Amino acid sequence: MRPLWLYDHPRRGIRAWGDMVAKFITFEGGEGVGKSTQIRLLAERLRGSGIEVVTTREPGGSPGAEQIRKLLVEGEPGRWTPLSEALLLFAARADHLARTINPARARGAWVISDRFADSTWAYQSGAQGVALDSVKVLRKMVVGADEPDLTLILDMPVEDGLARAMERGGLENRYERMGLPFHARLRQAFLDIAKAEPERCVVIDARGSTDAVAARIYTVVDERLMR
Ligand SMILES: Nc1ncnc2c1ncn2[C@@H]1O[C@H](COP(=O)(O)OP(=O)(O)OP(=O)(O)O)[C@@H](O)[C@H]1O
Ligand SMILES: [Mg+2]
Repeated sequence: MRPLWLYDHPRRGIRAWGDMVAKFITFEGGEGVGKSTQIRLLAERLRGSGIEVVTTREPGGSPGAEQIRKLLVEGEPGRWTPLSEALLLFAARADHLARTINPARARGAWVISDRFADSTWAYQSGAQGVALDSVKVLRKMVVGADEPDLTLILDMPVEDGLARAMERGGLENRYERMGLPFHARLRQAFLDIAKAEPERCVVIDARGSTDAVAARIYTVVDERLMR
């Protein structure tokens, strides 16, 4: 028997269970913009309306992908060439989709991922110069029809995001230690993605209180996925 998600994916135009279709939401944006905080709040709120929610993250989200994550987040900023890094990320993503995301959706759970394929587009292509065509080919191969239903791109001035990450306990990972021009290219890349794929992506103003940002996010989720 084919797995259930082959039937229920809205992009395949078959909505076997109408409003019960398990949604896939991704959060994207630069360092410290509040992705993890907002995912926790959105998951709580959706669970409050009786929806089963699986939260996950990239790189990682499955045992194999978490092993690849270690290779990516540890070490010197120049440890990998951007292309090698893109390939490792898509290897991890293939495992994440096969072992975590698709099985969860097949049993009717919504999935919220802290970063997904747009991060490879923004970091490795937008900020680090890997040809966008290469990233798109990999994306098609690995993600195929399992694209997110909704991508929330949290946006704020680069300095503000880094300041939040600093307050949380110093610039810990390889990316956080890269300079301001890198983070400025990154921010622009995420805004370009939103422009290129407006049906899937919504830019959220990530400034202001946690509650204010959560309210902006819930309005979009409600409008796009719950009606
Ligand atoms: N609206 C907000 N106002 C002030 N501080 C916030 C807000 N949202 C989150 N923070 C704080 O900013 C820091 C970064 O938030 P968070 O970890 O959610 O961001 P992130 O996008 O997941 O970061 P990273 O890219 O490093 O994973 C945390 O210390 C968090 O408590
Ligand atoms: Mg986070």
